[in-house]
Amino acid sequence: MERGEYGTPEKRRRRRCLIVTVVAVLLLIVIIAIVLGLTLRKNTDTFTSTFTARCEKFEGYDCEKVWGAFEEAYVGRDPCKVPPGAYDPFIAAAPLKPACNRMMFWSKTKDVVHDFTEKKDCFITVEDTLMGNVVDGLTWCGKEGSTETFTTGCPGWTDCENNTVRSFWNRVSTAFADAACGDVSAMLNGSIDTPFHPKSIFASIEMKRFHPSTVKSLNVVLVTQKSTVTNCTNASLKDLQKELAEGIKYSCKEVAETQIQECGSNPDIACGACW
Ligand code: APR
Repeated sequence: MERGEYGTPEKRRRRRCLIVTVVAVLLLIVIIAIVLGLTLRKNTDTFTSTFTARCEKFEGYDCEKVWGAFEEAYVGRDPCKVPPGAYDPFIAAAPLKPACNRMMFWSKTKDVVHDFTEKKDCFITVEDTLMGNVVDGLTWCGKEGSTETFTTGCPGWTDCENNTVRSFWNRVSTAFADAACGDVSAMLNGSIDTPFHPKSIFASIEMKRFHPSTVKSLNVVLVTQKSTVTNCTNASLKDLQKELAEGIKYSCKEVAETQIQECGSNPDIACGACW
């Protein structure tokens, strides 16, 4: 049998086979890298467009500037090393509009309070302001050495103290509480043992910042259900009164969740008549 320059036909066939395999594997790696890159890019783009679309619903803000200031807080950073102060430029770019006597704080009543504020223009929660609304319900973080915004694989709320999302809500809640003025409301949950929980944002951050020079009163709306386990005499609400700065009046009212829902759906009932 004739032997060519590059060995037997069998060897040449094997070599060709090997080359084809190597090229195919390389091609596959390149395709995977491109798809991965595009997916990550899409991740950032989807997050940016959600943020921007929500921002544009508010009048009088420069949404490009707001986005830039927001991104600056966490992009390229270890997602466990974003302190609340990193969001200072964002807070400055999205200033709160005055809402004395209309500010509503809450703890463990997220759905009922927002259902109410969305339907009836009586109160404003931080999630109804631009600064809270743009990322309400979202998860995001950055990564060292990357310019992307990731929406998966981010540390959870309790995974580390200074995580991207937790620091955001701490910072935004601080700003919202600092702006509190006049008669302030708080919707707390009457179906749990500790409606005023010391570890909650409301107890640990917001209430501590109410100042008698600007806040006249704190009016607790304790949301009750059939399964209600507590009322306004609850021990944690006694703690709340002790912690409330001197000079700020306090009231507490037990209100059935159904009453809040009905009032929210009835445009004929005035704000002051809901409870
Ligand atoms: N994991 C993820 N998110 C959490 C977690 C957690 N373990 N704990 C709290 N959060 C976020 C969620 O967005 C949740 O809906 O904080 C929100 C409020 O948590 P609550 O325990 O219900 O209440 P609280 O901690 O008192 O915070 C509410 O902070 O958002 C501001 O002004 C707002 O007054 C309100 C207060």
